[in-house]
Amino acid sequence: MANTILIGAQWGDEGKGKIIDVLTARADIVVRSQGGNNAGHTVIHRGVKYILHLIPSGILRRGKICVIGNGVVIDPVTLVAEIDRLRELGITIERNLLISDCAHLVLPYHRLLDEQRELRRGKIGTTKRGIGPAYADKAARTGLRMSDLMQPMVFSKKLQAKVLENNRILQALGARPISFRDVNESYLAAGEKLRPFVANTVVYLHRALARGKEILFEGAQGTFLDIDHGTYPYVTSSNTTAGGACTGTGVPPHRVGRVVGVMKAYTTRVGEGPLPTEDRQLAETFHNRGREFGATTGRKRRCGWFDAVATRYATMINGIDELAITNLDGLDHVDPIRVCVAYWLNEKRLDVPPCDAAQLANCEPIYEEVRGWNRPTGSAKKFSQLPPAAKAYVKYISKLTGAKLSMISVGPTRGETIIL
Ligand code: GDP
Ligand code: IMO
Ligand code: MG
Repeated sequence: MANTILIGAQWGDEGKGKIIDVLTARADIVVRSQGGNNAGHTVIHRGVKYILHLIPSGILRRGKICVIGNGVVIDPVTLVAEIDRLRELGITIERNLLISDCAHLVLPYHRLLDEQRELRRGKIGTTKRGIGPAYADKAARTGLRMSDLMQPMVFSKKLQAKVLENNRILQALGARPISFRDVNESYLAAGEKLRPFVANTVVYLHRALARGKEILFEGAQGTFLDIDHGTYPYVTSSNTTAGGACTGTGVPPHRVGRVVGVMKAYTTRVGEGPLPTEDRQLAETFHNRGREFGATTGRKRRCGWFDAVATRYATMINGIDELAITNLDGLDHVDPIRVCVAYWLNEKRLDVPPCDAAQLANCEPIYEEVRGWNRPTGSAKKFSQLPPAAKAYVKYISKLTGAKLSMISVGPTRGETIIL
């Protein structure tokens, strides 16, 4: 397998965790390059459901090395909790995990600032994990990193100044200040537990590449949550698109062999912001069937029809070579099925989404209607075993998206995958 970047081609939760799990069989190393514990990647492994937040999904498979790259923002306390939880479930986490010393830290004041901003009008609907404020500190060049945490004296000194500064902001916002001592103590304790995993991951990855090892880059969030290319300001604070895999790991672009885009057979989004094909009735259908609840926050996901304007644009930005379509079974009893092929905005037909979120919110989808198949697809092991209308549907949405169809997922487990 060539070094592969896997990204979400929609608004996150496309089923990346499940596809990563399928692709991990042929990779040596699985790397996270951006985001933090705002991500929730579901993998069903030997009948047990795991939701991974910071640790790459490859951790469930023996013999695979998992790397948390420099572009990720890490809350050390929750990372230790995630490691402990996985160990309790019998997953080995020893020399198979590496954490970049350059990764920035998420601190309690980031979480509190995130929470405070979410109380205001015009909120983004964040996961309240402190992701935005942590990346803001990184961009302002005032962040604390894993390497600081590995030097307790340096960490405590920097933390003291940051707590002082952030307490003033928190108090001005009407929130309770935080205690330097408590944070210092809990973070240093977490730091000691993480010490064995902390390394120069850039050098590690380059040495591994020189030995012919193959890397799978596990994207978090999705294309339209990208800080540059998403529906700004209703986005996350990192580059969720393919380029982020290189900057977030130090692996150069020419070492990447292919880009796999994961997309649902319909569209979902969590949080605020435009979703042109949103359909409340479709959402109700999915929610009544127990589908589409957030893996990180448990929130109901907003649901809509497949949006080919969005996925075509995602193909462009990410250079998607191959498509993995997930949750095809979600449409098993939906008939007819609508597909958005273009938008109307101010009496003009658009084939690409406008940059401005307010304009996108005003876009009217232009739909094509196709026949449903009205029977379960979950047991199909081969493309030929899918109902004719389901085959026609996946071919149609792949063609509209403009990339080669390589995988179809018809259920949450590894076995429920059709590889083309
Ligand atoms: P991620 O963030 O992209 O990894 O996706 P999430 O794990 O947040 O959400 C995807 C949800 O869909 C999870 O509950 C998965 O177990 C589930 N899932 C993934 N692929 C399929 C599929 O093809 N069919 C069904 N029924 N569920 C799927
Ligand atoms: P995975 O990796 C879906 C959304 C939040 C919010 C916006 C900003 O599981 O696909 P943040 O906490 O990042 O500042 O929130 O981004 N969001 C996600 N939506 N899946 C995710 O991750 C997400 N991570 C963040 O709902 O709208
Ligand atoms: Mg998710």
